[in-house]
Amino acid sequence: MNKSTQARLLHAARRASIKAYAPFSKLKVGAAALTANGHVYSGCNIENSSLGLTVCAERVAIFKAVSAGERDIKAVAVFASFPQSAIDNRQSKMPQLTPPCGACLQVIAEFSENPEIILSNGRSTNTYRLRELLPLGFRLDHPACHSE
Ligand code: THU
Repeated sequence: MNKSTQARLLHAARRASIKAYAPFSKLKVGAAALTANGHVYSGCNIENSSLGLTVCAERVAIFKAVSAGERDIKAVAVFASFPQSAIDNRQSKMPQLTPPCGACLQVIAEFSENPEIILSNGRSTNTYRLRELLPLGFRLDHPACHSE
């Protein structure tokens, strides 16, 4: 992916993180998904008092893309900046990146081949491939899946 597309995707993820509803964890996450059509769909994490109902930023972004009719994801950017207090409490002062959780990796895998996953916290950025993070994603290869 060229630098300007990466910058566009990260910018969308960062902007989305501002909208995060994270009163419980205080970790505001933004994600942006780039589709084969060149469109960008962003999302933020949305927590709930019933904690298990929380939805991650990545899934919000992917579900927005799919519900707009776009099922081919080429890249996903994730932006999260830990509060300074969390960094201060850690042994290592290395700025931490926020990789997608297992559930989000599985959802990304459903709508992509092996997209770039770009992680940033505003201080450092790293790029991975989905298969590095999820080498053996589950696939339900039922014929009905292909006629959809
Ligand atoms: N979270 C995300 O939105 N994406 C990730 O990749 C990891 C975790 C959210 C869920 C929850 O609101 C908070 O971060 C702490 O787990």
